[in-house]
Amino acid sequence: MRAFDVIRAKRDGERLTDGQLRWVLDGYVAGQVPDYQMAALVMAIYLNGMDARELSVWTTAMMESGRVMDLSAVPGIKVDKHSTGGVGDKVSLPLAPLVAACGVPVPMISGRGLGHTGGTLDKLESIPGFSVNLSADDYARLVGEIGLCLIGQTEDLVPADRKLYALRDVTATVASIPLIASSIMSKKMAEGIDALVLDVKVGSGAFMKTEADARTLAETMVGIGREMGREVVARLTGMHQPLGRMVGNALEVVESIQILKGKGPADTVEVVIELGAEMLVLGGVADDLAAGRTRIEAARSDGSGLDKFRQLVMAQGGTADCLDNLPSAPDRTTFTAQRAGFVSAIDTEGVGVAGLLLGAGRETKESTIDPAVGLEVLAKIGDRVDAGQPLVEIHHRGPARLDDALRRLGDAYVIADEAPAAQDLLIARITGSLPA
Ligand code: URA
Repeated sequence: MRAFDVIRAKRDGERLTDGQLRWVLDGYVAGQVPDYQMAALVMAIYLNGMDARELSVWTTAMMESGRVMDLSAVPGIKVDKHSTGGVGDKVSLPLAPLVAACGVPVPMISGRGLGHTGGTLDKLESIPGFSVNLSADDYARLVGEIGLCLIGQTEDLVPADRKLYALRDVTATVASIPLIASSIMSKKMAEGIDALVLDVKVGSGAFMKTEADARTLAETMVGIGREMGREVVARLTGMHQPLGRMVGNALEVVESIQILKGKGPADTVEVVIELGAEMLVLGGVADDLAAGRTRIEAARSDGSGLDKFRQLVMAQGGTADCLDNLPSAPDRTTFTAQRAGFVSAIDTEGVGVAGLLLGAGRETKESTIDPAVGLEVLAKIGDRVDAGQPLVEIHHRGPARLDDALRRLGDAYVIADEAPAAQDLLIARITGSLPA
């Protein structure tokens, strides 16, 4: 087989055979197909797409390029949740322990912040002592012993994605739905899970800005799951404004603990309960979503979700009092409304960038995160505000980048005379039944 023929076929809009897809991907990982040929192929995929069969073969080959976690010794249906990323999206932190407390094992391999979006690993690492670098054996042991484990991607998990992602990053081929879908699903399928809930974010703080794009991505990922024999349900949820009040790593841990105590902001609670209900149905412990919601609510109010979170923290390196000693920034500055009116829109990506500039995210691969800094969002879309009213409280460390962050917030908040139309938080549900 020749890489040239595979590239030409995809360039001309032909369907690639299973053999071609396997050969070219395996050859790329082994170093036999050079970067320049793979670059040409991913550009052809970017332009001409892949059908369901091509996608499942490609994703399977990516998954099998490295270690596939084996959780078969852990009883029960193992279910994970993946979010496509947003601002203030701390959902995984309360969700995983709540679901585990209801009896569904949650193996979760998470990512770091990407661009303006936060990452679960960075949030967890703001807990003193917490380690996200556990071995595959410890991961499997903890899922079996306490019902959950949250770690980072290990070196040997889906090496094809690491290599391909770096290539896509420099060849203008990241923003391709089949390539994004196969990248996400290959990593999720390598976790050893039986079923998956996808939270596909839509709006100004998401990577998918329109509902149409988010729907296509969700349907593509659900389709890959179905072809690979896994139950996958996708929910499209709003990212038109930051989720909850807190944006920033330790601040989001604080807000997650509030949610586990039965409190917390209504929007985040709603997403946690809804996704939790989906996971309980997939995990076989709830008959329908209504029953699932009731069980997640109970785990919030009886403290069992919080107990599970504490168990997780202790098992992954935290101490008994570490949650009482989260890092906190020394300085506070408020960003205030320029005029009276209604908050009619928030450029949520701009809010994420403001947090990033303060140190909550990374500007370069080498940047280090300051776990203490971030933003407390005091006014959300639809709120009536007076001139001079605080809209955001900035948690920062000295004057570094504070003016830049204030400028970003000034550009992000839109205040108008009229109250805006309400936007849905739970936008759509996309399912795909497995073939009989
Ligand atoms: N996240 C991923 O894991 N892969 C992509 O290609 C894009 C976002």
